[in-house]
Formats: sequence, structure tokens, C-alpha cells
Amino acid sequence: SQRTLVLLKPDAVRRGLIGEILGRIESKAGWTIAALELRTLDRATLETHYGEHEGKPFYEPLMQFMSSGPSAVVVVEGERVIEGVRALAGPTDPIAAAPGSIRGDFGTIVRENLIHASDSEESAERELKIFFPNFS
Ligand code: GTP
Ligand code: MG
Repeated sequence: SQRTLVLLKPDAVRRGLIGEILGRIESKAGWTIAALELRTLDRATLETHYGEHEGKPFYEPLMQFMSSGPSAVVVVEGERVIEGVRALAGPTDPIAAAPGSIRGDFGTIVRENLIHASDSEESAERELKIFFPNFS
């Protein structure tokens, strides 16, 4: 099976949606929460995590938003969780995301789109190390 790194972003935590979102993930057959922590992400961690977006116009506002309060940092384990959590989340723009998806049901703003999930096996491996360096 796979592991993926999920962040419930500060908007999701502020709005009291941790239970709702994790409930959808936990409800999938065989998927489990392997690690879970509430954490306000610092600049250094976010720069490493979002390095691919450095220099883009949305980068600085994204950094500000992502450090504006606690996120739930989560490891999800199970069959095809990398592709699967991305599917539950929906596309980056919540207005383009179908109802029934997490972003489609709860989001309106591209930046404040509630959830991050690793987008490939390589990303998952990289991101798990960033957020849980001692986790094997
Ligand atoms: P993550 O799971 O957070 O990585 O989202 P993603 O993979 O769906 O999107 P991507 O990695 O391309 O962008 C990272 C985050 O930057 C997004 O989730 C948004 O919060 C934000 N973002 C991406 N593109 C835009 C944009 O065009 N405008 C704004 N304002 N924010 C953006
Ligand atoms: Mg991404």
C-alpha cells in the first residue's frame, strides 16, 4: 500500500472542518490515519514544501496564508491513497471542483482550498520527510 502527506490548511482548521474532511478520508475502505498533528507551519518548512512555486505571483500570499494558523498535518495510508486523496479533494480551483469533492463542497477561493495532498509517489516520499522526518 501507499502513504501520502495531507495538510488540512488553516482555513479548514479555522472553519472547524477537520472532522468532516478526515471523516471522508477515513471512510474509504482500508485507509487509515498513520500520523496526525496540529501544527502552525513555519516559513522554512513551507519554502521547502512549496519550492516549485517560488517566484510565481501567488507564492507570497500562499506563504502568508499557510502560516496564518495551525494546519492538521496528516499521513494517510492505504491502497492507492496518493491518487485517491487527490480525487477526494478535487481540482485546485474550488469553483471548478465538482460538488461531492472536498474543495467543491467547501471552497470558493483558489488559495484557501482547504487541503493539500501529495501529487505523486516522488512528492509523497519528499513531503513525508519534510513533515515527519522521524517517521518510518
Ligand atoms: P496543493 O495540494 O496545495 O499543492 O494544491 P495543488 O497541487 O492542487 O495546487 P498547486 O501545487 O498547483 O498549488 C499549490 C497551492 O497554491 C494551491 O493549492 C493553491 O492554494 C495555491 N495556488 C495555486 N495556483 C494558484 C493561483 O493561480 N492563484 C492563487 N491565488 N493560488 C494558487
Ligand atoms: Mg501541489
